[in-house]
Amino acid sequence: MTSGAAQERRPDPDTRALNASFDERPDEYDDLRAAGHMARRRVEYFTGVLDEVPGTVLEVGCGTGTLLRELAARRPDRTFVGVEPLPNYVDFARRRAEEAGLANVRFEVGTGETLGQVVPAGSAGLVVSVDALHHVTDLDRVVAEVRAVSAPTARWRAMEPNRVHPYVWAYHVLTPGERTFAVRDFLRRAGDAGWRLVGSTTLFLYPSGVRRVPAWAEQLERRLEGLRPVAGAVVLDLAVEGVSGARGR
Ligand SMILES: C[S@@+](CC[C@H](N)C(=O)[O-])C[C@H]1O[C@@H](n2cnc3c(N)ncnc32)[C@H](O)[C@@H]1O
Repeated sequence: MTSGAAQERRPDPDTRALNASFDERPDEYDDLRAAGHMARRRVEYFTGVLDEVPGTVLEVGCGTGTLLRELAARRPDRTFVGVEPLPNYVDFARRRAEEAGLANVRFEVGTGETLGQVVPAGSAGLVVSVDALHHVTDLDRVVAEVRAVSAPTARWRAMEPNRVHPYVWAYHVLTPGERTFAVRDFLRRAGDAGWRLVGSTTLFLYPSGVRRVPAWAEQLERRLEGLRPVAGAVVLDLAVEGVSGARGR
């Protein structure tokens, strides 16, 4: 932790336990999200999405900004906005972005339910959410707010824990502050807000704690991760109702 950490805002008591046991430990959480095989593949996946979908990139529930900072460094031609309710995470993300000299990413304190307070209406071309939707309080409001801040041609790529996987299910049921993510329920609510599913995939064979895997193991992962019961994450590709969209991977 750097000396700037001393000035970091503490989580508001009302917003505590938004990120299970990590609310007060942004540096540890950032290390966890940045390191390892899954983190590398997550960045690779979303780098590919950037190539497919133009416009300003908005991440809902961006945590300490790990993914957005990496994407912003790779794509200086794009603009990135991260929204996160924990003010100490936002402070951390801003400081790290500044240290890295990233002028194309900004981080705002806010929730998915109140996105319109910090993101202009119709401004996002690509919305990204990673392991955030199973934490939100009011999913109906979130899907409506994401729609309101998105352009008519926008896409929303949502990556969430795959509760069909027994280990993922057990972890999210047994860990205090965690919940499982119900795909069908989410899609029904998103549909009511004007989103429609245009593609979906499942990813990852190895848990996030695995630092690196040999090449043969990664090959195996890429072959098997499409089988839903063994995959760690489910990824949904959503488009605005009434706008034609290619099928996502
Ligand atoms: C598991 S973390 C994932 C963080 C980040 N997306 C990542 O991949 O590193 C879930 C995040 O969702 C945030 N969160 C919780 N409730 C939220 C809400 N209502 N709106 C937006 N984000 C929320 C938490 O504070 C936390 O940072």
